[in-house]
Amino acid sequence: MQIISRPRRNRKSAGVRDLLTETSLSTNDLIMPLFFLEGFNKKIEIKSMPGQYRYSLDQLLIKVGELSQLGIKCVSLFPVIEDRLKTKDAKESYNPNGLNQLAIKEIKKAYPEMVIMTDIALDPYSSDGHDGLVDSVTGEILNDKTLEVLQMMAFEQAKAGSDILGPSDMMDGRVGAIRDILDKNSLSSTSIMAYSAKYASSFYGPFRDALDSAPKKGDKKSYQMDFANSREAMRELTLDISEGADIVMVKPGLSYLDIIAKFKEKTNLPVAAYNVSGEYSMVKAAALQGWLDEEKIMIEMLTSFKRAGADLILTYFAEQMAINLQNN
Ligand code: PBG
Repeated sequence: MQIISRPRRNRKSAGVRDLLTETSLSTNDLIMPLFFLEGFNKKIEIKSMPGQYRYSLDQLLIKVGELSQLGIKCVSLFPVIEDRLKTKDAKESYNPNGLNQLAIKEIKKAYPEMVIMTDIALDPYSSDGHDGLVDSVTGEILNDKTLEVLQMMAFEQAKAGSDILGPSDMMDGRVGAIRDILDKNSLSSTSIMAYSAKYASSFYGPFRDALDSAPKKGDKKSYQMDFANSREAMRELTLDISEGADIVMVKPGLSYLDIIAKFKEKTNLPVAAYNVSGEYSMVKAAALQGWLDEEKIMIEMLTSFKRAGADLILTYFAEQMAINLQNN
């Protein structure tokens, strides 16, 4: 046979394959999301997310220490707020002594080198379970009034020591509004990782279990994006860049690798992907049934994010992947 170009020559041995591999994973690229609640000595497994827990602050600190030992550089914090503190105006979100702000301060004190990322959206604090304020008559999500709350939230988180703020609310103008309040208060070194293309997705189900934060009425489609759209994501990206985002994110991840690739082409900013709760739970569920090899699927999945163009990956697999990288 006269076959001049034989791609298989480049795959002929493990050594050759290793030499030619285009993409590799590093612990440096992984961000571990963590859930935490009030109390002491609590570590409560989240039913729909096997291997993930809600920690009381003392246990959270232990976990952050372990992650740091593994070489993980960043954790993303998600507080579970008690029902009695959830209100229509979500004012607990900017309580300077609230659970979230307390966690930021304690982690910073115990592990000053750990990069802390915090979420900006009202849902954990809102009795309506929405990311924005809800008009009590019309049920409408009030964009501009929400921005004022997001600004106070951003200010308190930054003041407590958060390094990177992650607006995940999808209100119009939030990145600019947050940048503005930070800069006016000598907090210009606090970064913003914008959830730029955040889709209205059913993959968030287990996360809403974890935080008990599902919307009481309706859905999030008037602010999160339609999963059928791609050009709209580019519009959101352009806006977030012009409003001062430092890092841009695509969420969810797995079903949105095309959007990650487009972001990477369009911007010089770092691009992050959020491998969300439902994507994690699907793998765990199948693995528990013995239907697929969890460890191998994890590596393939996380590598695909990098191949698509993600510089950073928020993933509940961060710890497990870091252990794998350490052992191999
Ligand atoms: C809150 C928020 C959500 C997630 C991160 N921040 C849920 C939502 O928008 O309903 C989902 C993360 C995950 O599913 O892992 N705005």
